[in-house]
Amino acid sequence: MKAHLTRRYMFSASHRLHSEAMSDAENALTYGKCNNPFGHGHNYSLEVTVSGAVDEATGMVCNLVDLDRFVQREILDRYDLENLNTRLEFSQAVPTTENLCTAIYDILQRGFTPAHLEKVRIEETMMNSFEYAGAAEIQPSPAIRGTAGAFRSEPEPTAVDREGNSEL
Ligand code: NI
Repeated sequence: MKAHLTRRYMFSASHRLHSEAMSDAENALTYGKCNNPFGHGHNYSLEVTVSGAVDEATGMVCNLVDLDRFVQREILDRYDLENLNTRLEFSQAVPTTENLCTAIYDILQRGFTPAHLEKVRIEETMMNSFEYAGAAEIQPSPAIRGTAGAFRSEPEPTAVDREGNSEL
């Protein structure tokens, strides 16, 4: 039996949204108040979702102690109370929460082995949240690849509306 486990962590960090590739005027236009030269802070809420078989002996996907220890050492110790702009990973990439999401995903993907990483979600404010589930997420679906012969013999999918009702 496979199950998903999501754990939430909190950290605080500051950032300034500014791209070296753009002029000051373009930056101001693109990022608005977030381009303020002094930066600003957020209390980020980070959700990490992992999956795996439920171990028969322990009844768990993975031990939360292992996940907590990894996230504390590799993510919270790295970013909590930091200025994200000073981090090496944001020397070339603007520290938007999209890019923070992918940076955290990559750290977990590389180093956390007890369970399969599904996704990372970050709430930046009450109004904004971002998710990243790895490169697999942006692969085109078979329906989009369409013209490939391998998919021609498959039956047309039944049209289903968003409540799951088939169009009969
Ligand atoms: Ni911000």
